[in-house]
Amino acid sequence: MSEIETKPRRILLVAACALVDADGRILLAQRPEGKALAGLWEFPGGKVEPGETPEETLIRELDEELGIRTKVACLAPLTFASHTYDDFHLLMPLYICRRFEGTAHGREGQAIKWVRPKALRDYPMPPADEPLIPFLMDLL
Ligand code: C5P
Repeated sequence: MSEIETKPRRILLVAACALVDADGRILLAQRPEGKALAGLWEFPGGKVEPGETPEETLIRELDEELGIRTKVACLAPLTFASHTYDDFHLLMPLYICRRFEGTAHGREGQAIKWVRPKALRDYPMPPADEPLIPFLMDLL
């Protein structure tokens, strides 16, 4: 009997959001120095803490990271991304949000950028986020 080589990995649940402004641009945030995958551009969001729904995570993270306020009714689930990193499996539901308050700014020192859908490919992203680009380019 042959055996499949597997490495047990924990599953990490991260919620991400395509924030879309009135001009149809999408917000990307650059992962800061000192974090894994520093310098890559990602859809904002973060780890779903125990007991949180992904919507609650996004409402908390968008405020903490960007000073953006939104609510559950303004967050629509779009799709799931997943990627197996060396030490964990990442599961990442992607939401879209077109209605929010506040002017986005990198509250944790991270660079941010409003990007037209057709320019998304110009921004190097983590491997989990990259497959979302054609999906968003088709949608927006
Ligand atoms: O943002 P944070 O460091 O908490 O995310 C945990 C891990 O999830 C990162 O190290 C990265 O590997 C992955 N991640 C990702 N794409 C994102 C957010 C996080 O691949 N948009």
